[in-house]
Amino acid sequence: MTEITIETNTSVPQKHKPDWLTLSAKTWFIVTAIGQWLFVAYIVGYYGLRFAKDGVSGFAGTQLANGFIAADSVGNVALVIHILLAGLIIAAGQIQLIPSIRNTLPLLHRCSGWFFMIASIIVSVAGFYLTWSRERVIGSLIQDIGVTGSGVLVMLFVPIALYYAIKRNFAAHRRWALRLFMVVSAVWFLRLMVFGWFVATGGIGIDGKTFTGPFLEVVSFAQYLLPLAVLELYFWASKPNNKHYQSAVASLIFLVCAAMAIGVFAISSVSWFPQIGA
Ligand code: HEM
Repeated sequence: MTEITIETNTSVPQKHKPDWLTLSAKTWFIVTAIGQWLFVAYIVGYYGLRFAKDGVSGFAGTQLANGFIAADSVGNVALVIHILLAGLIIAAGQIQLIPSIRNTLPLLHRCSGWFFMIASIIVSVAGFYLTWSRERVIGSLIQDIGVTGSGVLVMLFVPIALYYAIKRNFAAHRRWALRLFMVVSAVWFLRLMVFGWFVATGGIGIDGKTFTGPFLEVVSFAQYLLPLAVLELYFWASKPNNKHYQSAVASLIFLVCAAMAIGVFAISSVSWFPQIGA
């Protein structure tokens, strides 16, 4: 990118460097927006259509490991609530991230924010119930503990983000709301990591039949710890004192964006698109 020269009052030409950190954050937002709206399209086009046609029993015969179980009506309702609300919170999360909506439509930001927080807690509680009340047919105990960790962090971050919004400390609210966004999006990151890993390595460390293996145990925690760590680096590099490190952190975020784009492409083409309307 070309550098822009600006004149100061000392008449000494100053180089105004492009803001790579902001550019990397914008790139991250674009990749995330595309990937999350595709996830929403899949949830609506696969689960939403089934529910619209046949109600709760429309969830019978999906590709889910447990899915609809005839003898478990509470679990089935929890499953339907979990998945349909999941689609709505992912969509609401996207609305929350757009600065122009925050600035010009504050009421929409507030309503969608309340919905995002309450629905994220409901989705997490339903997820706990599904994980721990039903027989484990794929995965391992460690993977279940990993995904439960994301729900626990959701429960922790919701009241903190809300507290700072009510106190009108918007800088702290923004930081905690972004952390919340990362943990709510953990299951989406997991899907990108798994499918991206398949593309890159052919699935080293994954037993495709039982959906177990060391890679899956690591990503069951990395699905939220890695995005949270990159976010903290971004916050840290955004501080004026750490300007020297901005290009390095921006490069890392560009790398993350490239990996995420591979994951989005892989899961959309192999899993999400073929399932829509199926
Ligand atoms: C808060 C954010 C969450 C979102 C957006 C979300 C989203 C989803 C979606 C879309 C599915 C359908 C799977 C697919 O078709 O790919 C699903 C399934 C599932 N989720 Fe979540 N989830 C979240 C959190 C959790 C948590 C925290 C847990 C566990 C503690 C959990 C446990 C489950 C289980 C067990 C299933 C599969 C049920 C089965 O195979 O029968 N989820 N989730």
